[in-house]
Amino acid sequence: MIRIDSVTKRYPDGTVAVDNLSLEIPDRSITVFVGPSGCGKTTTLRMINRMIEPSEGTITLDGKDITQQPVNTLRRSMGYVIQNAGLFQHRTIIDNIATVPRLLGWSKDKARARARELMERVGLDGALAKRYPYQLSGGQQQRVGVARALAADPPVLLMDEPFSAVDPVVRKGLQDELLRIQGELGKTIVFVTHDIDEAVKIGTMVAVMRTGGHLAQFAPPAELLSNPADAFVEDFLGADRGIRRLSFFSSAGLDLLTTPIVAVDATAEQIAGRSAKDVPYLLVTDVDGKPLGWSEPGALTAGDIDTARLLPYGRPFEHDKESLRAALDCAVLSPTGWAVAVGADGRVAGVVSQQTIGEAIRTAHAEGRSDADDADDAKVAG
Ligand SMILES: Nc1ncnc2c1ncn2[C@@H]1O[C@H](COP(=O)(O)OP(=O)(O)O)[C@@H](O)[C@H]1O
Ligand SMILES: [Mg+2]
Repeated sequence: MIRIDSVTKRYPDGTVAVDNLSLEIPDRSITVFVGPSGCGKTTTLRMINRMIEPSEGTITLDGKDITQQPVNTLRRSMGYVIQNAGLFQHRTIIDNIATVPRLLGWSKDKARARARELMERVGLDGALAKRYPYQLSGGQQQRVGVARALAADPPVLLMDEPFSAVDPVVRKGLQDELLRIQGELGKTIVFVTHDIDEAVKIGTMVAVMRTGGHLAQFAPPAELLSNPADAFVEDFLGADRGIRRLSFFSSAGLDLLTTPIVAVDATAEQIAGRSAKDVPYLLVTDVDGKPLGWSEPGALTAGDIDTARLLPYGRPFEHDKESLRAALDCAVLSPTGWAVAVGADGRVAGVVSQQTIGEAIRTAHAEGRSDADDADDAKVAG
């Protein structure tokens, strides 16, 4: 949909902010520009909506050169979100969101109705409608910024470090929300960040840029992590890229054991029957099947298990939904080296050893990129 073709931007002082950049931004997905400060991300983004004009090269939207269409029409087709949201401080939240529809001549009622709908869409309580931006938290303001950009339903969203100023917990929530909105609305999103973790989490395609506006690599996140193009990209990805790559492989294929599990009211026969030579521990659940903790079979008192003496089970992972990374994390955190898999209802689906997870990881790495096709499902769940 958006195509950047041999684009260079030279500022009047001679700075080359973007150097002969070419890439295609796929429709209805999230393309991330990531790179260190000053590498030309903002300049590139602003050339897409003509806040900055290229020195050389062309940008096309649906095959048409963007310089050949009225700049207002172009901008109306592209919502724009910046860091700290850039809200109008003297306008209420609802009127901030209704800004563009009002400019387009919608009635006040219609524009406000649309704004209310969008507040819900971005996870904002309707009770905030009449407040002013300074009365909201940073994360809430950022959601207002996204709602405002979506108000006239533009096919494209341009986002420049939109979540960089909020704390990590709030940021994670905003990222999840953006992925959800993208899934529901199918917008074409161009997202700028300097945070590689953010890029890998939300990007369908990631463009890694280096100083001087050079494109270092343009690839899906799983491929960046498995096959960095050069030392710069590898360095930028960080030391733990092997572990992070596991986020792209589902835990669904893991072989779970269901034998070494007993309920808290288990009889002596059940404890004996469920003990296995190769599994030194039993997982104890409550009567609903939710995990309580691990124990060696010999330490369990039939009919009256002392739950205070159980070993903790760490954080269980949701089988079928979470990634191999989540499963491995769970096993590593577990004092027994075994991970607990649960279903969506929190009930134990089975247990799996570090060793079995290790084998699955080796298979996943060997199968390599073919699994990246399933990446979207796995990575949303982390
Ligand atoms: N108006 C300007 N005039 C001159 N140089 C600029 C201007 N805007 C940005 N630059 C320079 O262009 C380079 C790229 O800037 P920018 O696109 O803002 O990078 P990023 O968003 O990746 O941090 C930087 O070296 C920056 O200092
Ligand atoms: Mg910038």
